[in-house]
Amino acid sequence: MSGTGGGGQLWAISDLHIGYAENRALVEAMQPESDEDWLLVAGDVAETVEDIRWALKTLAGRFAKVVWVPGNHELWTHPRDPVTLRGVARYDHLVQQCRDLGVVTPEDPYPVWDGPGGPVAVAPLFLLYDYTFLPSGCATKDEGLEYAHGTGVVCTDEHLLHPDPYPTREDWCRARVAETERRLGELPDDLPVVLVNHHPLHRHPTEVLWYPEFAMWCGTVLTDDWHRRFPVHTVVYGHLHIPRTTWQDGVRFEEVSVGYPREWRKRNRPPGRLRRIVPREDER
Ligand SMILES: [Fe+2]
Ligand SMILES: [Fe+2]
Repeated sequence: MSGTGGGGQLWAISDLHIGYAENRALVEAMQPESDEDWLLVAGDVAETVEDIRWALKTLAGRFAKVVWVPGNHELWTHPRDPVTLRGVARYDHLVQQCRDLGVVTPEDPYPVWDGPGGPVAVAPLFLLYDYTFLPSGCATKDEGLEYAHGTGVVCTDEHLLHPDPYPTREDWCRARVAETERRLGELPDDLPVVLVNHHPLHRHPTEVLWYPEFAMWCGTVLTDDWHRRFPVHTVVYGHLHIPRTTWQDGVRFEEVSVGYPREWRKRNRPPGRLRRIVPREDER
């Protein structure tokens, strides 16, 4: 983290995966630069409610505000978790944990960052995916899944992420997208917004996936134009475990994941560093 003139900064990170002891140690060492700093946590904190709660409580004790969105791992009903809730009931339970800790969720009013680079609204989103990021040559979800089963690249969500009471994950996704679209439409046109979602809101970041078929579990074409339709400052996401910055139609997309130890050990930069979202370089 580089120093600034003070007044607070808005940081982001995702895919903490603290089930790994090395990653838990990264969270233990995570600190703001000032008392005014906020932290956006874009999902995949852990698989058990206890671990998720530990990480969010640790961070909420250090940052002025912590904003969380669920990743697919939080939504798994994992055999190791004594909390056996499924689907919407599990999500609601996690939202309740966040409320106990003072952590902002997609179910709360969108907070406004008023520090340097502001005012900027922060919209935590929970949208899921609907299998519309299909592998090339496949026209339907069934064809895509058949292809994925053929290559063996099938997301664990198929076994552990239950959509109850929705019939399917894509039904849950469509309901979330419709409700979120309505809420974003109520924001003032002249207030920039940071969109925070576990999955990328646009397909372009998935183009570099080693296994292109994994894109089916990475988002939905329903949000394809959101970065153009809404006054978006930055799109923050994770899930891909490919940390980088890209630009689409002049809008900044930040993949802020930590990833698994076997992934971050291969990179030539220290793991667990926060990415500054606001102020941007040109706003300082
Ligand atoms: Fe992840
Ligand atoms: Fe994920």
